[in-house]
Parts: sequence; structure tokens; C-alpha cells
Amino acid sequence: MIQHILQISDCHLVMSGTTLLGVDTQASLEAVLQQATQERQPQAIIASGDLAHDPVRDVYTRFLETLRRYSDAPLICLPGNHDVLGVMQTVDLPMQMLNLGCWSIVWLDSHEDQLPRAQVTAADRAAVAGAIERARGQYLLVATHHPLMVVDSPWLDKDRIQKPAELVDWLAECSAVLNDGTARLRGVVFGHAHQSIEGFCGSKKVPIYGVPSTCFQFQPGSEVFSIDAKSPGYRWLHLADNGDITTHVRRVVSFPINVQLNT
Ligand SMILES: [Fe+2]
Repeated sequence: MIQHILQISDCHLVMSGTTLLGVDTQASLEAVLQQATQERQPQAIIASGDLAHDPVRDVYTRFLETLRRYSDAPLICLPGNHDVLGVMQTVDLPMQMLNLGCWSIVWLDSHEDQLPRAQVTAADRAAVAGAIERARGQYLLVATHHPLMVVDSPWLDKDRIQKPAELVDWLAECSAVLNDGTARLRGVVFGHAHQSIEGFCGSKKVPIYGVPSTCFQFQPGSEVFSIDAKSPGYRWLHLADNGDITTHVRRVVSFPINVQLNT
């Protein structure tokens, strides 16, 4: 049975009645969820950080209530640099590892409250290693917030996870090798870059995937902060029983983005 996983990210929800750079981030999240769940009901949802731009209880409560209006699938939420982990925990956002058939989804904390750049501490490594040890799935998907590769945008790249190949090799080592010699770790997904990214990382060339934001996008390859006109997006990950991942990004073309940089 294929597990159909919906990844959403970088929702940047703000206080009720306000917008972010002129964008109604609540409405764009709803447009994403409406389109995605009309395509199919996911078996699980990964929300890969920067769920709130105003990281307060009301906003996280609204995030969870919004998701639950569209899907009651198991959910795994992780914090991004704009989030505050302690506040996320007070509203009981689901953050536990997911076991789905042959697969487990675990997350690696790359965030530090109030710090834009990635920070993967020894405690973060210990936490994900513990989750991997407890994971029941034959295959593993790891989710984290910050990118694991250079995206040729210096203003974004300075905040990525440092030494990503070493980290992914370590994750693969923690995950163990299957009887047929293949890696149990089958992919890593991330957010933060507000663009669709696909690549490989580490000596085992583990596939890595970045996802568009559910609100506005960043211009790929731009030297400085720059907004892309592309629509809000999301990623489908189809996890097969043989360990294969097929994936694609979709856009909500019915929700044009008009960013106002001076707001
Ligand atoms: Fe971020």
C-alpha cells in the first residue's frame, strides 16, 4: 500500500486581521489545503516549520484548527526559525514520530528559537537517534526545517544546515542498512527556502526535497532577498512498500500572490 504524504511548510500565520507583506497567509494556507485535499486525502501531513510568523498560542491554535477542517490524518509538526517550540507544545501540536505501514517519519530539530540560522545540537542529534531507534518502519523519511544544500542564494544559504553530507551520512548510519545492503533512510524533506528543490546528499546520495511555502515564494538563485511571483505550493510524497519515493510539487494557481514589500 502506498502512503500518500502531504508536506506543507512555511505558512507564516500572523495575528488575526493582519497580513504579512500584504499577503493573507491564513487564506493562502486554506487555499493550499482545499486544493490538496480535493486531489486526495493524505495518509499523513508533515508541517515542516515556520508555521507561525507571530508565534503565539492563538496563532498555533488556529493553525491546528485550520488543518483539522480539511484532514484528520496523522500530523507531524516541527519548528522553524520563526516558531517558538515551547508555545507550539502548549497547544499540543502533534510532534511525535509517525509509523505508517512500512514507513516511519521522524524529525530532526534544526531550529533554535529566535535564531534564523540552522543549529543542530548534540541534543538534537540524540533526540533523532532515539526516534530512529524506536521507529518501527522498514524505511525512514526524515523531516527538518532548514535546507541541506546550497540553493545559490547567499542570503538563504548562510542559514542552511552546515556540513549536510556529514549529517546525512550520520543519519543513514543511525538508521542502519537493510539485509539487501540498501539504506533504510530513503529521503529527507525540508522547508525554509520557499521554493521547490530536489537533490541528493551524502555519500549514499540520499534524496532530499525542499517544498514551496504555503504563502509567498523566494526567487531561486537570487543574491538578495527577492520574492518570486509563483503561487503557494505543497509537495506530495508517495511512499511505496518497496522503499521507493515518488514526489511532485503542486501550486495553487487560483491564489495569486501580490507582495507589498513596504508593508
Ligand atoms: Fe525558516
